[in-house]
Amino acid sequence: MTHAALPMVVPDPALPSRVRIHEVGPRDGLQNEKAVVPTEVKAEFIRRLADAGLTTVEATSFVHPKWVPQLADAEQLMPQLADLDENVRLPVLVPNQRGLDRALALGAREIAVFGSATESFAKANLNRTVDESLAMFAPVVAAAREAGVAVRGYLSMCFGDPWEGAVPVGQVVRVCRSLLEMGCDELSLGDTIGVATPGHVAALLTALNEAGVPTDRLAVHFHDTYGQALANTLAALRHGVTTVDASAGGLGGCPYAKSATGNLATEDLVWMLHGLGISTGVDLGRLTATSVWMAGRLGRPSPSRTVRALSHQEP
Ligand code: HMG
Ligand code: MG
Repeated sequence: MTHAALPMVVPDPALPSRVRIHEVGPRDGLQNEKAVVPTEVKAEFIRRLADAGLTTVEATSFVHPKWVPQLADAEQLMPQLADLDENVRLPVLVPNQRGLDRALALGAREIAVFGSATESFAKANLNRTVDESLAMFAPVVAAAREAGVAVRGYLSMCFGDPWEGAVPVGQVVRVCRSLLEMGCDELSLGDTIGVATPGHVAALLTALNEAGVPTDRLAVHFHDTYGQALANTLAALRHGVTTVDASAGGLGGCPYAKSATGNLATEDLVWMLHGLGISTGVDLGRLTATSVWMAGRLGRPSPSRTVRALSHQEP
């Protein structure tokens, strides 16, 4: 059971008035589940997220099925979403030409390539060096754009890396620029293992601006391993970022970065944004009910503090 508690609204004039939430639960969340979730449950999850007012829901990945078996049903899932409202954007992850061919065959209108700021993670996640992975993405981005498909570029390990430690800002800026120059419409800055703190976020955003990357091309993607995701989001909002990635119920992680835990929970984000008077279009009650339902399917409670508070779920 959920109840309709809402935060008290006290706007901050220094912040944007609207934020677009890029929901990653069905992809970043479910890719990390031990159990394989049935395709029908995934489809219902996405449908419920859209009903809760989320207009961008990252649906799945067209990666090698052996690398991410949890999302090996992309071909079965996408047709089940064909009747969703056409205003709901359903981006999918694509690492290479084979992935793009599979996605285009199913009518995908938005894709995301996913690079790394560090060599160790590029190797672990893509079996390539950083530059080899950029070379793999370039023709994919060009072909997607040629087909009228929007392209997001993720960049992982923007703040810290489990093998290499702190990641120099300049190293991140270089790969960001390459992704933009090859034609990505938007870049999502990933704190894959959740080690960032707000000053680091502000420093990276400033460095990107100084290198000619405008804030309106940037999104932020925080994992909440050290409980910093909301604080980091606020730092990004203060910088003018208006696209924030989050995962319903705080599901998530990365199978190729063992220290990664769940993403910033969408409910925790919505509670803060609505309290600040920032509109999102999301119905928090419906969203929470969806995460409680999904927690039931996964057999464990949601780690989101807001989901627990609103649903009286036991921790
Ligand atoms: P590879 O082993 O180097 O692949 O993997 P390859 O290019 O050598 O090809 C080997 C075989 O795989 C070939 O088949 C290909 O056809 C096949 P064969 O000719 O031997 O029969 N193959 C494919 N099959 C289906 N779909 C494909 C595909 N590609 C090749 N797309 C590869 C390279 C990129 C494929 C692999 O490393 C991979 O799939 N990696 C994906 C890892 C992943 O999905 N990680 C999680 C997402 S990233 C993330 O979570 C971070 C993020 O949230 C942001 C953040 O938090 O930081 C986005
Ligand atoms: Mg992630």
